[in-house]
Amino acid sequence: MTLRDGRRTTSSGTALATTPAVAPTRAELAAALERRGPRRTALVPTMGALHEGHASLMRVAREQVGPDGAVVVSVFVNPTQFGAGEDLDRYPRTFDADLELCSEQGVDVVFAPSVAEVYPNGFVPAGEEGGTVTVDPGPLATVLEGASRPGHFRGVLTVVAKLFGLVRPDVAVFGEKDFQQLALIRQMVTDLCLGIDIVGAPTDREPDGLARSSRNRYLDPRQRVQAVALSRVLRRAAESAHEGYAAALAAGRAELGASDGVDLDYFVIRGSDLAELADDVPPGTPARALIAARVGSTRLIDNLPLVIGTRAPEGSS
Ligand code: PAF
Repeated sequence: MTLRDGRRTTSSGTALATTPAVAPTRAELAAALERRGPRRTALVPTMGALHEGHASLMRVAREQVGPDGAVVVSVFVNPTQFGAGEDLDRYPRTFDADLELCSEQGVDVVFAPSVAEVYPNGFVPAGEEGGTVTVDPGPLATVLEGASRPGHFRGVLTVVAKLFGLVRPDVAVFGEKDFQQLALIRQMVTDLCLGIDIVGAPTDREPDGLARSSRNRYLDPRQRVQAVALSRVLRRAAESAHEGYAAALAAGRAELGASDGVDLDYFVIRGSDLAELADDVPPGTPARALIAARVGSTRLIDNLPLVIGTRAPEGSS
């Protein structure tokens, strides 16, 4: 809501301390950044439908640039990372609430462009060929999420590269929940010499362990309970990692077998670079347990760090 004097308020009527500049176009983004001068800038790219998990990314961004730096949040549902039959049309769009959360977190600029603003020369959806120059994400994009969602990471890297070009941040913050996405963005920045610090932020969770996600709002109450199985499977695997790779996998699979309503896509334990692990992986090897599954019609993902041959650290995300 906006008060008569122009100050914005939360839905309960409390006046917000700061109002971010809202830039719907490239030109307005450039003007907003220009007005703020040559400050250290952190970018938090999002697709909106913001929740406490995004707020935690904004706090990490603020820590990175300090009180005098600029935190920019982009809100853009990127069509090129959705394939045919995915949830592009029903993806939640909650701009007023998003802006409120950005205000509460002291964000300086919200870049909320239209599709035409980001793709003035057109685009093709994930999994289709043709169109304009895009970022080839390489072989890591063909496994796990990439195997289930062909073309998804080409769309992600292309839009992230565009956002980097438009905002020119010093640092960009992404959630570890999308662990493969984070790995690919790091690889793009290294391989294309983009010179941006990529910071991964730990996954924010509901009290029962469910990883926070914009897609959680699709779950009905029964599915919401069933969805906790994903984090339980990962936790069981992490708790058994001290007994070795095979034991960790077996523990996760046993938990899966005892879980209702979870239509599994994959549950794997990979190296922390997402490389496949051999059965005789040596103790002390850092690894990542990753899971993707449908609960009802909602596809959810989650992951946890673990170290093969070592007990899970307290509070690992
Ligand atoms: O993680 C997301 O929300 C999206 O994949 C991103 C990085 C904003 C690109 O559209």
